[in-house]
Amino acid sequence: MSPVPLTRRSVLAAGAAALALPRTALAAPTVLRAGPVTAQILPDGDGKTAMLGLNGTTPGPELRVRQGERLDVRFENRIGSDSALHWHGIRIDNAMDGVPGMTQNAVPDGADFDYSFVAPDAGTFWYHSHSRSWEQVEQGLYGPLIVEEKEPPQVDHDVTVMIDDWRLEEDGTLMGGFGNRHDFAHAGRLGNYARALPSVRQVRRGDRVRLRLINGATARVFPVALSGATGKIVALDGMPLQAPRDIGQLMLAPAQRIDLIVDVAQTLRFDFPTRDEPYELGRIEVMGENPSPIAQDITALPAANVKTPTAPYRDLSLTMQGGAMGGRHAGEDIWALNGHSGLPDTPLATFQRGETARIRLINETAFPHGMHLHGHHFHEMNGEVPGDLRDTTLLHRGETRDILCVFDNPGKWLLHCHMLGHQAAGMKTWVEVL
Ligand code: C2O
Ligand code: CU
Repeated sequence: MSPVPLTRRSVLAAGAAALALPRTALAAPTVLRAGPVTAQILPDGDGKTAMLGLNGTTPGPELRVRQGERLDVRFENRIGSDSALHWHGIRIDNAMDGVPGMTQNAVPDGADFDYSFVAPDAGTFWYHSHSRSWEQVEQGLYGPLIVEEKEPPQVDHDVTVMIDDWRLEEDGTLMGGFGNRHDFAHAGRLGNYARALPSVRQVRRGDRVRLRLINGATARVFPVALSGATGKIVALDGMPLQAPRDIGQLMLAPAQRIDLIVDVAQTLRFDFPTRDEPYELGRIEVMGENPSPIAQDITALPAANVKTPTAPYRDLSLTMQGGAMGGRHAGEDIWALNGHSGLPDTPLATFQRGETARIRLINETAFPHGMHLHGHHFHEMNGEVPGDLRDTTLLHRGETRDILCVFDNPGKWLLHCHMLGHQAAGMKTWVEVL
């Protein structure tokens, strides 16, 4: 599960509870200034880490907008090299998608770029650099983007939990070698220290809490065991489930999100299960008692306004190839999709607006991949039945899955592995919607 062992460094060290996701009050238009930051990634008292961040912190500030409203963000790049911001999971105007070389020019150091878009879906999203992403996301250039329902479900706390891992020296220094080919050919750059960082440190017993889990790691698939509360999963990748689902063990590929609504019984713990004892990623302490707990059942969030797919479907297939212990392929880099490494000159497919396609994703490799489509959400198919809507789907080694998508958002859209070293080493393609 974790070839690079996670270091058991207690997150319970004195003062560790002071770690909380920044929640900055934002002026409109919002400015996100990217630049070097010093972060306390290890527990307080341990060494600090030189990272990149936004408005002085990593993760960057949590952006919040109401469903259907416009978000205006001035991105000020001060990191010392090119960058751009991608709004992961937002069914966005193509020109605002933040992909250098495809939807915009890279933003040079010292320059600004104005992003402006409407957020059509309520849910949990995030933003991250899409420029040398395997390096810049690893260095901390990302943050949560929350789109609030017009009538949010009744909860006592709405908590974002950013999950990530880092490869750190003993003193907290972020190790270099972001472009390491050995990492790229295997599971990607896995960290040796991991953390789940909640935006709220403390709740009361009996509180109803919405938890928005976001995996911001560049490579690691996080299994998460939640304890201390009971409740339901209500959304995946910012898309409400038709019916709330029992929690069990949670699994998040890089870039995936899970929304839960839970009732707190005791200290909320987020654990990474391992063969021996669990590795604690983070916790929310419990203080006091809620005198009047919310008693209603946890019900489904209002359904997203995503077009229903209609047969006949156009059938396509996408085979993931390469990597260590993988077979040969015709591509020129470590990884390939359908025998091609890197962005092809011509798209995988060109769709008429509104066309529905069923894409068979075939993982012929010895590693898991989290495949992400820009600008759309798709259904994971259960046989012939369209299941959950997602923007990133996890395929374990040897696994095949059909996804079903109504391609109704015009533009050029990336389809790539969100193990960011994999996409850097060939695992990416694109589609065009006319
Ligand atoms: Cu979250 Cu192409 O990325
Ligand atoms: Cu991959």
